[in-house]
Amino acid sequence: LKSTELPISKLIRSIDQTIYSFLRKKEPATLYQPSRYLFEGGGKRLRAIFLLLSNALSGGTIRNALPAAAAIEILHNFSLIHDDIMDNDDLRRGRETIHKKWNSHVAILTGDFLAAAAFKALSQCPAKFLTDVTRIFADSFIALCEGQALDKEFETRVTVSEKEYLKMITQKTAVLFSAAMEIGAVLGGSKPRQQKALKQFGLHFGLAFQIQDDLLDIVADEQTLGKNVGSDLIEHKKTYLSILAAQWPEGKIWLEKFKPINTEEMHRTFLRAFVEFLRKNGIYQKTEKLVDFHIRSALKELDGFRNQPAKSQLAEITRLARNRKF
Ligand code: IPE
Ligand code: IPE
Ligand code: MG
Ligand code: MG
Ligand code: MG
Repeated sequence: LKSTELPISKLIRSIDQTIYSFLRKKEPATLYQPSRYLFEGGGKRLRAIFLLLSNALSGGTIRNALPAAAAIEILHNFSLIHDDIMDNDDLRRGRETIHKKWNSHVAILTGDFLAAAAFKALSQCPAKFLTDVTRIFADSFIALCEGQALDKEFETRVTVSEKEYLKMITQKTAVLFSAAMEIGAVLGGSKPRQQKALKQFGLHFGLAFQIQDDLLDIVADEQTLGKNVGSDLIEHKKTYLSILAAQWPEGKIWLEKFKPINTEEMHRTFLRAFVEFLRKNGIYQKTEKLVDFHIRSALKELDGFRNQPAKSQLAEITRLARNRKF
């Protein structure tokens, strides 16, 4: 069965079944309960879907690719738990983060456990691909850690260049998307040239995805986003928007206004005014342009593939993700 022979909702169900098969145990409760809690809270499962569609586009079957799809999604979810500790965030997928609902000890260990569970899932890939797939997977994990380290280092840096920012988001976000696409391609047995195109698709998509995530942090509706809005500003994150804003004296003043001690009402008021500043000076528009550029670049990588369901599904999800509100 190819992934494209099933609607996306069915694919997600298969992905979730595989994920939960690694999280079934009852005890210790402070390990397995928070693990399931995280997945039950939602999540778009984008990385797993991309892996399966890349696999289908390469001629592979779902059965061969599901363990790897579960693995990449489990790894992503691990990264969210530790990321929320690092970013001081209380809200994820519309619910309390694990370190808030339980405590940071539980969150750290649940993260560790999920990272291990991800490799366990990966080990169920067909044996002949295991060496390549494990290397790509581990390399993306290492890149993610490097990106997260830079993300934290940049908080206390006065200036960060656009180039440094792009390197940081490539590592913390885009590499995982490109690994999902590459692993799908390897498991599907695609040719080197196609593999490279699919990998590049993932890289461009991931860049667009993170730049848009930076934008959503400022303009999204908190209920819909399911995450704390304006959190990046309070944490002094270097995002595409904050880097551009800091080039204006007025922007610098706005950036300094966001503090953890501000009341909810002050926070909302500052956010509204900051968005106005971003629009007035074309920063908002420039950010959207960059997102669109990377979305277009991603879609261009699909040009070399003949028309088939996996290709249109990939393109469709890419367009949907471009207009996402969460
Ligand atoms: C959030 O990723 C982390 C980023 C890389 C921006 P997603 O927006 O894919 O999170 P879920 O899995 O759908 O919740
Ligand atoms: C996402 O960065 C990167 C990873 C989770 C590795 P963010 O910190 O912007 O992600 P969100 O906004 O908390 O989901
Ligand atoms: Mg975060
Ligand atoms: Mg972060
Ligand atoms: Mg973010």
